[in-house]
Amino acid sequence: MSEPVLVVQYLKKKYGDFEAVRGISFRVSQGEIFGLLGPNGAGKTQSISMMTGLFPPTSGQVHICGLDLSQDTNAAKRKVGLVPQELALYPTLSARENLMFFGRIYGLRGKELRQRVSAMLEVVQLTDRADDAVEKYSGGMKRRVNIAAGLLHEPEILFLDEPTVGVDPQSRNAIFESVEALNRTGTSIVYTTHYMEEAERLCHRVAIIDEGKIIALDTPSGLIQSLGGGVIQVGLDDGAVQGPLGEFGTERQAGVPGKRVLQVVEQVSDLASVKAASLSDGLLKIEAHRAQEALIGVLEITNQLDVRITMLQILEPNLEGVFLHLTGKKLRE
Ligand SMILES: Nc1ncnc2c1ncn2[C@@H]1O[C@H](COP(=O)(O)OP(=O)(O)OP(=O)(O)O)[C@@H](O)[C@H]1O
Ligand SMILES: [Mg+2]
Repeated sequence: MSEPVLVVQYLKKKYGDFEAVRGISFRVSQGEIFGLLGPNGAGKTQSISMMTGLFPPTSGQVHICGLDLSQDTNAAKRKVGLVPQELALYPTLSARENLMFFGRIYGLRGKELRQRVSAMLEVVQLTDRADDAVEKYSGGMKRRVNIAAGLLHEPEILFLDEPTVGVDPQSRNAIFESVEALNRTGTSIVYTTHYMEEAERLCHRVAIIDEGKIIALDTPSGLIQSLGGGVIQVGLDDGAVQGPLGEFGTERQAGVPGKRVLQVVEQVSDLASVKAASLSDGLLKIEAHRAQEALIGVLEITNQLDVRITMLQILEPNLEGVFLHLTGKKLRE
C-alpha cells in the first residue's frame, strides 16, 4: 500500500456547544478498505459528509489524492464517489435510466455513458433486472443501484455509508462482493458500519468511532489482539453498597464499594493468570493472560470472601468485544 488517497486531520463538526465530530485524524492508503465502525450517533455520517465535501468542517483538513478539499474543491470532489445512507432514486425509472441520469450529471455522454452504466450494473450484479422500474426493487437492490451511481465517474475513493442497513441477505452478499471486486481493481474504500462482522470481513483497517472520537485504529486482528488473553467483566456485590444505608446502618455514598469487594479486586490482581484488574461502579474488569484460569481464580476468591456475582461476561475475541472493552457499551443496544 502506497500514497495516501485520503488524509484527514483534526476534523471537527460543532453545532453550537455540541461536537458531533471531535477532532478525528487518519489516513487511507491507495487500495485500502478502511472501516469506520461505531454505534448510532457516533459521527460516521457527519464525518463522511465532511470528507466528501457535502458541507465544510468547523475545523480541520481533508486532502484527497493530495488535493486540499477546501481549496481545490471541484478537482478533489471528482476523485470521490459517495453512496449516502439515504437513498435518492427516481422510483418510476429503471435502474439503467437512473444511472444514465446520474452519469449525465457527472458529464458522461453517448457510448461512454452507456458502457459505464452497463459495467457498473454488472459490478453490483443487477444486469438481469436493469430495465425494471426501481419501485419494484427490494431495499437491497435499490441500495445497489445507489452504489453503481457512486461509481459512474470512476472515483479513486468510494465512501459507502452503512450500505447494508435494511438489506436482504442476498443483496448484502452482492454488496460485499462488489466492494471486494472494486477494491481488487484499485479503488480505495471508506466503509461505515455498526456491524462488526462486516468490518472484520471487509476492512484492512478499522477505526472504532464513538461519540465523535476515534477510540482505536488498527487492523481487525490487531484490535482483537488488544483484548490479549481475554477480558472478563464481573459484577460484584457484598451487600455493602445497597442503598444509602450500609452494613451497620452507617451512611454510605452510593457506588462506594464495600471492603470485601476491594479484597476481591486485590486478590484477583495478584493472580498469575491476570494481567490487570480494575473496579468501576461495582464492575470488576479483568484483563487476563489466560481467561479460563483467571475465571476459576475469580470464582474461588468471590466464594471465599462471600461476595455475590451479579453479572459475568467473558468478552469474545471479536470487534464487538473490543468495543465493549473500550467503551463499556454494546455496539448495538
Ligand atoms: N444538523 C445537525 N444538527 C445537530 N446535530 C446533528 C446534526 N446532524 C447530526 N447531528 C448529531 O451528530 C451526531 C452524529 O451523527 P451522525 O449522523 O454522524 O451519526 P452516525 O454515526 O452516522 O449514526 P447512524 O449509525 O445512526 O447513522 C449525532 O448525535 C447527531 O444527532
Ligand atoms: Mg449515519
